[in-house]
Amino acid sequence: MKIAVVGLGYVGLPLSLQFARAGVEVLGLDVDQQKVDALNAGESYIKHIAASDIAAVLKNGTFKASSDFARVIETEAVIIAVPTPLNKNREPDISFIIETGKTIAPHMAKGCLVVLESTTYPGTTDEDLKGVLETGSGMKAGVDFHLAFSPEREDPGNPDSKVELIPKVVGGYTPECLKKAVDLYGRAIRTIVPVSSCRAAEATKLLENTFRAVNIALVNELKVVYEAMGIDVWEVIESAKTKPFGFMPFYPGPGLGGHCIPIDPFYLTWKAREYGQHTRFIELAGEINTSMPEFVIHKVAEALNARRKSVNGSKVLILGIAYKANVDDDRESPSYVLMDLLKKRGAEVSYYDPHIPVIRPSREHSHWAGTKSVEWKPEVLRGFDLVLISTQHEAVDYRELAECAECIVDTRNAMAGIKTAPGQVWKA
Ligand SMILES: NC(=O)c1ccc[n+]([C@@H]2O[C@H](COP(=O)([O-])OP(=O)(O)OC[C@H]3O[C@@H](n4cnc5c(N)ncnc54)[C@H](O)[C@@H]3O)[C@@H](O)[C@H]2O)c1
Repeated sequence: MKIAVVGLGYVGLPLSLQFARAGVEVLGLDVDQQKVDALNAGESYIKHIAASDIAAVLKNGTFKASSDFARVIETEAVIIAVPTPLNKNREPDISFIIETGKTIAPHMAKGCLVVLESTTYPGTTDEDLKGVLETGSGMKAGVDFHLAFSPEREDPGNPDSKVELIPKVVGGYTPECLKKAVDLYGRAIRTIVPVSSCRAAEATKLLENTFRAVNIALVNELKVVYEAMGIDVWEVIESAKTKPFGFMPFYPGPGLGGHCIPIDPFYLTWKAREYGQHTRFIELAGEINTSMPEFVIHKVAEALNARRKSVNGSKVLILGIAYKANVDDDRESPSYVLMDLLKKRGAEVSYYDPHIPVIRPSREHSHWAGTKSVEWKPEVLRGFDLVLISTQHEAVDYRELAECAECIVDTRNAMAGIKTAPGQVWKA
C-alpha cells in the first residue's frame, strides 16, 4: 500500500515514520522544500526524532519526501497534518487545510481515502474540507472517495510516548469511510477507536485539550489563592496525587504554550457561537491562563524590590524558551510574553535554552528572531540580577544555578530540593 502524508511537522513526520516502519510505502509531502531536502538526505529537524530513524526508512525504500503534490495520484490514502493556528483576532485559521484540499483534489485517484488529522472544530472535515475536495476533484465524498477524521495524540518530549502504542480515534463520513480508515491505521497502530462520525472524532480531540486547559487554569488560580494563604501549591498537588482515584495532577506555570492547549479550545468557542452556545469554562480558563505572565512579572518586581532594585535597568535571564520541558518547540511559548513584558518595563533581557541556541523567525515573535542563547557559564550566570525559570529542562544544572544566581524566580518548582539561601528563590 502507498499513502501520502501532507505536512511533515511534529505530527506528520513521526506518523510517516511509523507507517514506513510498518511496511506501508509513504510519500511525505510538504510545501517547505528545505524540510523535503533534509528528510531525503536522512536529516532530522525535530530534536526528539533521530536522524537514524529517517535514514532507516529511506534505506528500506518505504519513505520518500517530495513537494510535488501531483504525486498524490500514486497513493491510495492521503493523511493531512497541516497547521491550524488562530488568526490575529483569535479566530480559527483553517486556510492551511483548505489550501491542501485545493492542491490535492485534482490529483486524487478514484476510491482513495482522505483523512484529516489537524486539530479543528467539528464540521471541518464533512463541511469545509469535503466541499473543496468535491469541487476540485469532481468526485463525491462517500461515493467516489472516502473521507475521515483522526486526531493526533502526539506528546512531544515524552520518551515513553510512541505513535504505535497511542490509541487512535477515527471517525468516518460514512460507515464505509470509517472501515477504510480503520483498516489504514490498523496497519501501523495497535489500538483503533472507531467513533460514529468525523464530528465526534473532531470533538474528542477538543475535549481532550479543553480538559487540559481548564485544569491547568484551575491550578494556576489555586497557586495564586494558596500563595496568599501561605500555602505552597506544589506541595498540595504532590499530596493530592497520592489519592488513587478521582484525581489527576496538573501543574501551574507561567502561562500556556504550544501549538495545542492555548489554541484548540478557541476553535470550539468559535464554532459554538454558530449554534448560539457559549463556552464559559473555556473563556474563564483562557482568562486565568493568560493572566499568569502578569502574575509572574509582579513576582519578579517584588523579588528585585527586596534587593533594592527595579525591573527598569535590571539584567534578567529567562531560563527556557521552549513551551515545555525537554523540547525545542517554542510556538506560543509564554517565555516570549514574559520577555516582552520585562523589556517594556525597561529590563535588559537575555535567555538560555539548551535546545534553542538561536530564536528562529516566527509570525508572533519576529522581534526576537536572531537573538542567541547566552552561554551556560558561572561567570555569565553571576552577571544577572535575576534568573526567571520559565521552562524546566532536564539538561539544565539547577544546582549550579543555585550556586551562581543572585536571585531566582521559579515558575516550575525546578529549585525544589536544592539548597539555596534565604530569599534567593521566589516561587511564582
Ligand atoms: N505538535 C503537537 O504536539 C500536536 C499534537 C496534536 C495535534 N496537533 C495538530 O496537528 C496539526 C499539525 O501540527 P504540527 O505541530 O505538526 O505543525 P508543524 O508546523 O510542525 O507542521 C506542519 C507542516 O505542514 C507544512 N505545511 C504548511 N502548509 C502546508 C500546505 N499547504 N501543504 C503542505 N504542507 C504544509 C509545514 O511546512 C510544516 O512542515 C495541527 O492541527 C496541530 O494542532 C499537533
